[in-house]
Amino acid sequence: MKKKKVIIICAAMIVILIAAVIVVMVLKGTRKGGIDNEPEAPVSGESNVLVAYFSWSGNVQQMSRWIAEETGGDIFRIVPEESYGEKFDPCADRAKNELDNGIRPAVSEHIDKEIMEKYDVIYIGFPVWWYDLPMPVWTFLEEYDLSGKTIIPFFSHNGSSNGAGSLDTISNLAPNSEILSNDAISVRGSDVADSESKIKEWARKFTVNKGE
Ligand SMILES: Cc1cc2nc3c(=O)[nH]c(=O)nc-3n(C[C@H](O)[C@H](O)[C@H](O)COP(=O)(O)O)c2cc1C
Repeated sequence: MKKKKVIIICAAMIVILIAAVIVVMVLKGTRKGGIDNEPEAPVSGESNVLVAYFSWSGNVQQMSRWIAEETGGDIFRIVPEESYGEKFDPCADRAKNELDNGIRPAVSEHIDKEIMEKYDVIYIGFPVWWYDLPMPVWTFLEEYDLSGKTIIPFFSHNGSSNGAGSLDTISNLAPNSEILSNDAISVRGSDVADSESKIKEWARKFTVNKGE
């Protein structure tokens, strides 16, 4: 009987250990050093399409640039005032703390209200962070009146291919927009470099009849 108990406890500990290792692998499998910190061109509102993104290690930035190229839309990077730095662990700790405590980090780039009014379609890009939307994107979505606009999510991940909680979060933060969650595209971080044609083909679907 005692032996059985010990076996059960050992098995439970092994399961917990394996689960912890999987979580760390998912979070750590991120590409580092790939971000280009040169500012994007200023937005003008001449197109009715905006591609707004947050990216830490460069995958979503690359996806965003292809989408902007394909749609002719303006591109806008969501830049936190305080950088997340280059090291994974402090970045992950801060991101978790922000998510757990609902902290909206201040951002340093903003779009004028008059320019934001000109966009009908907003592609919004982000990496899945802690199974949800990174908090700088919460800051962005809450800053503007996005009523009546079409929001098209796209994201990169390292396992959470369905976006985990991120798409529901977008719906909650932009309740008066049409969110095309079912059409969102998701690309694993390690596959981004080879996905230019897939992403461009996807992006094209939405702009063909949208005032181009
Ligand atoms: C703080 C942090 C948390 C992450 N959490 C998840 C997660 O919950 N699920 C997942 O699939 N990937 C997670 N990842 C991996 C990233 O989503 C993935 O590496 C993505 O390609 C990074 O995009 P980026 O290069 O544009 O920053 C996380 C990465 C970081 C840095």
